[in-house]
Amino acid sequence: MSIHFNRESQTFHLYNDEISYIMKVTRSGHLGQLYYGKRVRDRDNYDYLLETEPRSMSVCCFEEDLSYSLEHIKQEYPVWGTGDMHLPALDVRLPDGSRLLDLTYRSHEILAGKPGLKGLPAVYVEDASEAETLVVELGDAKAELTVRLFYTIYEAFPVIARHTEIRYDGKQEAYLEQAMSLSLDLPDMDYEMVELTGAWARERHVAVRKLQYGVQGVYSLRGCSSHHFNPFLALKRPNCDERNGEVYAFSLVYSGNFAAQADADPYHMTRVTMGIHPQGFSWRLTEGETFTTPEAVMVYTDQGLNAMSQVFHRLYQSRLARGRYRDQVRPVLVNNWEATYFQFDENRLLPIAQEAKDLGIELFVLDDGWFTNRNDEHCGLGDWEIDRTKLPEGLAGLAEKIKRMGLRFGLWIEPEMVNAGTKLFHEHPEWVLHQPGRRMSQGRYQYVLDYSNPEVVEHIYGKLCGVLEGTGISYIKWDMNRSISEAYSCTAGSEDQGKVLHRYILGVYRLYEKLTEHFPEILFESCASGGARFDPGMLYYAPQCWTSDNTDAVERLKIQYGTSFVYPLSSMGAHVAAVPNHQVQRKTSLRMRANVACFGDFGYELDLTALTEEGKEKTREQIRFVKKYREILQFGTFYRLLSPFEGNEAAWMVVSENRRTALVGYYRILQEINAGYRRVRLAGLDPEQKYRVSILDKECYGDELMHIGLITTDTSSGDNREGAGDFVSRIYVLEGVE
Ligand code: DGJ
Repeated sequence: MSIHFNRESQTFHLYNDEISYIMKVTRSGHLGQLYYGKRVRDRDNYDYLLETEPRSMSVCCFEEDLSYSLEHIKQEYPVWGTGDMHLPALDVRLPDGSRLLDLTYRSHEILAGKPGLKGLPAVYVEDASEAETLVVELGDAKAELTVRLFYTIYEAFPVIARHTEIRYDGKQEAYLEQAMSLSLDLPDMDYEMVELTGAWARERHVAVRKLQYGVQGVYSLRGCSSHHFNPFLALKRPNCDERNGEVYAFSLVYSGNFAAQADADPYHMTRVTMGIHPQGFSWRLTEGETFTTPEAVMVYTDQGLNAMSQVFHRLYQSRLARGRYRDQVRPVLVNNWEATYFQFDENRLLPIAQEAKDLGIELFVLDDGWFTNRNDEHCGLGDWEIDRTKLPEGLAGLAEKIKRMGLRFGLWIEPEMVNAGTKLFHEHPEWVLHQPGRRMSQGRYQYVLDYSNPEVVEHIYGKLCGVLEGTGISYIKWDMNRSISEAYSCTAGSEDQGKVLHRYILGVYRLYEKLTEHFPEILFESCASGGARFDPGMLYYAPQCWTSDNTDAVERLKIQYGTSFVYPLSSMGAHVAAVPNHQVQRKTSLRMRANVACFGDFGYELDLTALTEEGKEKTREQIRFVKKYREILQFGTFYRLLSPFEGNEAAWMVVSENRRTALVGYYRILQEINAGYRRVRLAGLDPEQKYRVSILDKECYGDELMHIGLITTDTSSGDNREGAGDFVSRIYVLEGVE
């Protein structure tokens, strides 16, 4: 890995074994983008890449050179008003009313390692030798702005992490109207855009579309990253599939409003931008102030989508997630939500816990409803006083009994919300996001606390410490159950209302930071009505996230498949729930439910006391299986094999680090009749290794399984009707022999 600056040609080359990223200070002083992609040799000069064909109607920087137009020069951090005609990366409203900007090169420095981002989540290094960071300083003297572009290249990953700092030195205030984390100009538009889209209970479905002229992208204006679009997009070549081909991927380490888009111009240049969404954002800058954007992570590979995902998985698992649990297998848990909803008391919970213990479960999680006035969704959030009618000996009493059974105890909280009718709402109406004189929209009958106000964050921190201290809690599920609508802070001045949503997220991050520091032994799982905040920002604080409120195994195939595009299996909370399923009413076997859920952070979300004896035996067996293989199921190398978005079958697999063990999850959704013979080509195995394949009860070499395939023919679709039915699943265990 190296960052090389050639003084004569003013060229930067960032490279490691896999990628090259090349930029140049151009004749006009702008920072031009020359190349990003597969590693090329390091040279002194790549000036031939700066294509400047003269084109009619272009505005040009110099009178004597009609070819030199910023409209056609690919740039690193473009602005508007001085020749570039595309959507810019930066937009500032200056005191004189102007929004013209012109950023030119001033200096640069190369740092060992990677600096952190104050108050923001980011990927990190553990040792300075793991990465190098280039900081390029650009400036606009007239606007009194200094822009510092950060580029970190890792030794071990085909990754560049980028963010931007904007410093203002004017005496009169200016307003930052837009500040993207990254902007990247690519020289053609022959791409398909991959995005993760959905809604509540069908999060992160994979959608692919051919890039068209103009702007296309994904975004959130909900105050959270959202169920609807994930802060991710990838541009892949049309021939790129899971196993081969070029892909450029972009992932924003942020949990609030975002924009991620590709803008293809009529000259076939594609500009990718990613960062905080400019809608509603307007950051007042005072003299000497610096604004730091969130970080965007770029991954490049020519080895297909599986390779892209594996890079994200390894990076996010090892250099984004933090804390004691980062590298540890996760406890098998039972959560009482779908078992009891709000209707529980200690007498109802303890038998579930006892059963959990008998079955081999390790952690009992008490979900929503443990605090006063919380018997349904209408009230209770905000006061965080324990409901003594449900839990006469308090949380500590319940926790103690559960721990005595030999289980760990975990708890649900939703600290960003408040219901009307609570003490908090009554005493501090000004702590609720709303604009006086305007209707306050409710979502799930609740309102949003103003986390842009540090006082509110401190208050909730104090309350939570009161609940958690001395209770011996070892797990927290942090929920967030509504989008933010009236983003107006009663305690901020008119000039700072454009800061509210970003400050809100900074407040959430601050509370997470304080709690994780104060309670390092607690495993945090983030959640937002299922997966509305399944994003890299959250993973920095909570190494796992509740993937979706949809616990149906068939629906989960798509949700977990899509989620795996960016997020590792160790980050996906996945539970076995009751049938008929509570979201879609579907009935699937206990085996199918477990065979899907075990590719993640495994648990149960049903009334264990209602299981039949046979069900209990099967559950015991499932838990034994997960415990035996969870290191691989959560931290192995994951490959998607057959997409549930494309047919009646789905398959994926994980491979251990030494490639001696692999598990293949195969799912056939609907029963077929007289179906064809089938094979699934596996991936990631050692070609020379002989494996014993369970179910088939055969021994096959890695090369055979990868090139010929694993035979998955469904014998129940022919004359042999044994095992016929919908929603069939198998986990093939491959163990190296000899
Ligand atoms: C939404 C979460 O996604 C569920 O798992 C559950 O915790 C409920 N909230 C509780 O209100």
